[in-house]
Amino acid sequence: MKHRGKDGRAPTAVQMHQRIIILGFMGSGKTTVARELARQLEGTHVDLDSFIFDREGRSAAEIIKEDGEHQFREVETLALRDVLQNSEARVIALGGGTWTIPANRTLIALHDCATVWLDAPFELCWTRISNTQTDRPLAPNHQTARARYDSRRADYSLAQQRVEVNEPDTAETLARQILSIT
Ligand code: S3P
Repeated sequence: MKHRGKDGRAPTAVQMHQRIIILGFMGSGKTTVARELARQLEGTHVDLDSFIFDREGRSAAEIIKEDGEHQFREVETLALRDVLQNSEARVIALGGGTWTIPANRTLIALHDCATVWLDAPFELCWTRISNTQTDRPLAPNHQTARARYDSRRADYSLAQQRVEVNEPDTAETLARQILSIT
């Protein structure tokens, strides 16, 4: 059972200095919100895709296109394991598919992190996906991206917390909301 504070309530993730994992579909704002959340916590953050790029010398998109998604998932799981084991970062932003892999969810559970799903509507994600330079081979067109979005929701809903993302929400507002619930 979790240790309880003076008021009898279980301490929050923030009080326990637990790490916070940000997950959600491509374009939901994981990287920006994780950066802002770390700033508000006066800590650091790691973006898993950037970590992979720094280590492999290739982006997630390049690995997927050159070696296939299966190979990328292996690289991603090893990267996640190393970040969880070695990084002091207070906030970790996953890639859009990381949380959908059961082994990755197990790793995260073993490290006792707070998990937060940024639940953004598909059209908002799609607008962002199609308007940025970031290459996303797993969302090549509206139809494929939509099918992937729908098929992943059940996995995303396994996160401990869900934060609804609407178009006008800023990273600052979303980070404050996450701090109030974790
Ligand atoms: C992926 C999302 C990407 C990146 C890779 C695979 C996915 O990250 O990890 O292209 O499977 O949804 P973002 O969610 O940061 O775009």
